[in-house]
Amino acid sequence: MRSKGALFLLSVCALTAHYIYTPIPENIEQRWKLMFTDCFFRSLSHLADLSELLGLKDYMGVMLFITVAERVEAVSDERVKVADELFDGVEVLVYEPRRDRRQGERRRAIIYLHGGGWCLGSSKMGPYDLLARRMVTELDAVVISVEYRLAPAHHFPVPFEDVYRVVKYFLQADVLNRYAVDPERVAVSGDSAGGNLAAAVTQQLHMDPDQHVKLKAQALIYPVMQALDLNTPSYQQNQHMPILPRRLMVRFWSEYFTSDKWLFNAMLANRHNSPESTSLLKFVNWSEFLPESFRRTYNYSTLSVSAPETSYPFTDPRASPLLVPDAVLRQLPKTYILTCEYDVLRDDGLMYAARLRQSGVHVTHEHYADGFHGTLMFTVWPTDFKIAHRLTDNYLLWLRENL
Ligand SMILES: *[C@@H]1O[C@H](CO)[C@@H](O)[C@H](O)[C@H]1NC(C)=O
Ligand SMILES: *[C@@H]1O[C@H](CO)[C@@H](O)[C@H](O)[C@H]1NC(C)=O
Repeated sequence: MRSKGALFLLSVCALTAHYIYTPIPENIEQRWKLMFTDCFFRSLSHLADLSELLGLKDYMGVMLFITVAERVEAVSDERVKVADELFDGVEVLVYEPRRDRRQGERRRAIIYLHGGGWCLGSSKMGPYDLLARRMVTELDAVVISVEYRLAPAHHFPVPFEDVYRVVKYFLQADVLNRYAVDPERVAVSGDSAGGNLAAAVTQQLHMDPDQHVKLKAQALIYPVMQALDLNTPSYQQNQHMPILPRRLMVRFWSEYFTSDKWLFNAMLANRHNSPESTSLLKFVNWSEFLPESFRRTYNYSTLSVSAPETSYPFTDPRASPLLVPDAVLRQLPKTYILTCEYDVLRDDGLMYAARLRQSGVHVTHEHYADGFHGTLMFTVWPTDFKIAHRLTDNYLLWLRENL
């Protein structure tokens, strides 16, 4: 009986292994764990496709399960005070240190934007709550974690505008005062789509002539930077990598603007650009901005352009912050950019780092040769990875030294 059971288990495992098998690069630590984690994500994605096909629930509606499953109650403890607030009508979580301040002492602050492709994620997910608490206790910082509204219910520019409103609101003298924050020590940071929002907001803020309090720094973790070229070497190399395969990233991009499948299919084929985009191609020219070691054997060919019936604003710098001229980049504050080798977005981050440096901005770029997309989120059991702790420690160290 027992051997029958074992045999059954073994065949289930074999089937599962066959289903989940994705060739995971040798230099990634804890490969089996990543394989199983990815199996979960891929199963959910297939389920979401099926559900949409059957007309039950749309794709992103099913994918939201991840967000809901990881939601925690953000509560105060002996070291951190947490409060739900509305900043100019936008929901935020405010994390404050409980430690006593000396008379007149001011704190630094980080406005944090979660990832999830503008469609998923929440400031209330366990890993983000944990990260905010570490920022409070280790950096003595006030953290504003923004619950911006999500696509597809709220397409571009709503998520951007929510974040922009929060940043403008927070940077007012009386609000900074209320939280005892030093106006010269405020940073914006985010991962993935949150990194995209952080980069976009920083640009718009530093171009805004009415904005007097500026940001001290921006910290971008594997940010999404552009929707013009979805076939950079990293998109090609990592199209089937765990967590964020190319197809899913394209889905996020298209859903940010519309639920019309035309855009998804056009972006999947990298044929979504119109003749008006031509003048912007020079900003995403990876044959110019990528270091040789990342270009490898990939050959650059100029992107095709066509005349689509409807156009979507994916070249708007509030969506694609890589697409701004150097004159805009020159005004930007000190920048931290983190990229991972096994990530379709690697080259977005690399190109932004290269362009910022060329424009004279102080850039710290950390590249993880064994990193994969979403690493920062994997700090909580059972999907905790050693690399996630290494990466988080280095990121916090940079903030400690530069903010
Ligand atoms: C991209 O860069 C290459 C080499 O630097 C150059 O030959 C090509 O004309 C550039 N293309 C665009 C669209 O800027
Ligand atoms: C790029 O071009 C070279 C020379 O023509 C070729 O050997 C190589 O296979 C090409 N790379 C890819 C990824 O197509």
